[in-house]
Amino acid sequence: MNANEIRKKFLDFFEKRGHKIVPSSSLIPDDPSVLLTTAGMQQFKKYYTGEVDPIKDFGTKNAASIQKSFRTSDIDEVGDESHLTFFEMLGNFSFGYKPGEASPKGGYFKKEAIEYGHDFITKEMGLKIDYVSVFEGDKEVPADIESEKIWKSLDKNIVVKKFSREDNFWGPTGSEGPCGPTTEIYVNGVEIWNMVFNEYYCSGGKLEKLKTPGVDTGMGLERLAMIAQNKKNIFETDLFADLGELPAIVDDKIKRIMLDHCRAVVFLVSDGVRPSNKDRGYILRRLIRRAVAHFHKSARGPLGMTGLDFADIENLLVKIIEKYGSFYKELNRDAVLSIFREENDKFRLAINNGTRELKKIGALDATIAFKLYETFGLTFEIIKDFGGEKAEMLRREDFDAELKKHQEKSRAGATAKFGGHGLLLDTGELKAKDEAELKKVTRLHTATHLLQAALRKVLGNEVRQAGSDITAERTRFDFTFSRKLTPEEIKKTEDIVNEVVHKDLPVGFVPMPIEEAKKTGALYFFKGKYPSEVKVYYVGHSLKDAFSKEFCGGPHVNHTLEIGGFKIIKEETVGAGVRRIRAAVL
Ligand code: SER
Repeated sequence: MNANEIRKKFLDFFEKRGHKIVPSSSLIPDDPSVLLTTAGMQQFKKYYTGEVDPIKDFGTKNAASIQKSFRTSDIDEVGDESHLTFFEMLGNFSFGYKPGEASPKGGYFKKEAIEYGHDFITKEMGLKIDYVSVFEGDKEVPADIESEKIWKSLDKNIVVKKFSREDNFWGPTGSEGPCGPTTEIYVNGVEIWNMVFNEYYCSGGKLEKLKTPGVDTGMGLERLAMIAQNKKNIFETDLFADLGELPAIVDDKIKRIMLDHCRAVVFLVSDGVRPSNKDRGYILRRLIRRAVAHFHKSARGPLGMTGLDFADIENLLVKIIEKYGSFYKELNRDAVLSIFREENDKFRLAINNGTRELKKIGALDATIAFKLYETFGLTFEIIKDFGGEKAEMLRREDFDAELKKHQEKSRAGATAKFGGHGLLLDTGELKAKDEAELKKVTRLHTATHLLQAALRKVLGNEVRQAGSDITAERTRFDFTFSRKLTPEEIKKTEDIVNEVVHKDLPVGFVPMPIEEAKKTGALYFFKGKYPSEVKVYYVGHSLKDAFSKEFCGGPHVNHTLEIGGFKIIKEETVGAGVRRIRAAVL
């Protein structure tokens, strides 16, 4: 059964069962909290929450789609036998289930979802299920006993495994959205179908029950094709094998990277993404540059970067467009080829200069790597690949942190004004003489808020700010506490701050009347003089469950990862019941 037949079979199956067939949404999502579309349910978020009525849009509460999806989380894994960036996701969905409502317009929940999954896999596809998994339950969400019963009623011999939240709980996409426990189908040892029972809405880590639950399922077409076509890996399915041969000199790993990345490039460009140094544009740039560099590296030997021959790679792009174009009408041959050529020209220039420089350098750390990126446009992957042993210690997290710091710099510089409503002058002072210093001070300022919250976690609520002073070198934070801190307490405080930094939580504020602000539980400096309206700055997805909230005038970073790393340098006394910590950001 080829991929076209599988797509059709899937859509027909659900259409016959009262589902509206909805076209894939763009890879550029509506939801600003995610860069690219990562799941089929994303375009349906507002139907789950009840904001929009599915009956009005679809004539039914049930939908099915084949969604173009892109996940960056696996980007470094691409090259092995199973990982992809771009993939197609088959999914059926049901919104706003109310028990007893008549089919086909009424929604459905676990019983029908599991029955459909079982019948499609065993009867339509003729496959044998190895086992299924259900959510085992934890403190917050009960075990999914119902799903287990339903599976057993369909096949009394079926093996039902129980897994924790890590495996059998899904969502939300982006910073908030529907989510819930899952049941998953395994065939030939491969997880092929993930069925989510959306019972909750998650925001800032908190789960609230959705008014009406829903169903969201997702099955990767590539994996299903692999099983149905009895292939050893996804690259042997017709989805890739039909794209023709690459030159024999190219090894398997590089071939897979080329296949994945070129396919992703075709779809991203056709949906309007353009190469740039930011967000999705940067993802696209990385894909193009990595595909080209790998191709060339294998064809001409490492570091011999001149005169790329594009016949093979262009041929591959054209083949992808031809093969996928019958299902995805939006594929745009002219745009794909011209963007690809243009980006390659830029890259060729960059790589000639950059690799020359790379040869001169000893060991590579994130700062040097970032300089190479900034000056020559060498992406992380290229530096890693071409740096060889020199780049062994270079880690993506460090490089990304460096990149992020840089991106924020210009934004912070021109617009940030000290102290908002003058509050910082009361609580301490921010001292900076130019933009670079202001940037550093801003990072330290947010770090100081995290420090206070962490100290209260470790030492208790006796801790309150007694003063602060921030320069580009360090923050100095005074707080009430009756004794010297132990080394363990210092370490723990530092660890908590760094943990929050690495979670990359957003930082925001809400202006509100002072009396109301006090009721939010936000910390404030007793000696401070506050205007009648204050800003409550918080670190987290919402004020309600923020890790830190304080009355403050700013400025702060937008996301905690911009802080980089946090280190306590010294802890000492400054008088009875008041301690002082000096800390730096790395
Ligand atoms: N949203 C779930 C997933 O992406 C099921 O569709 O796996």
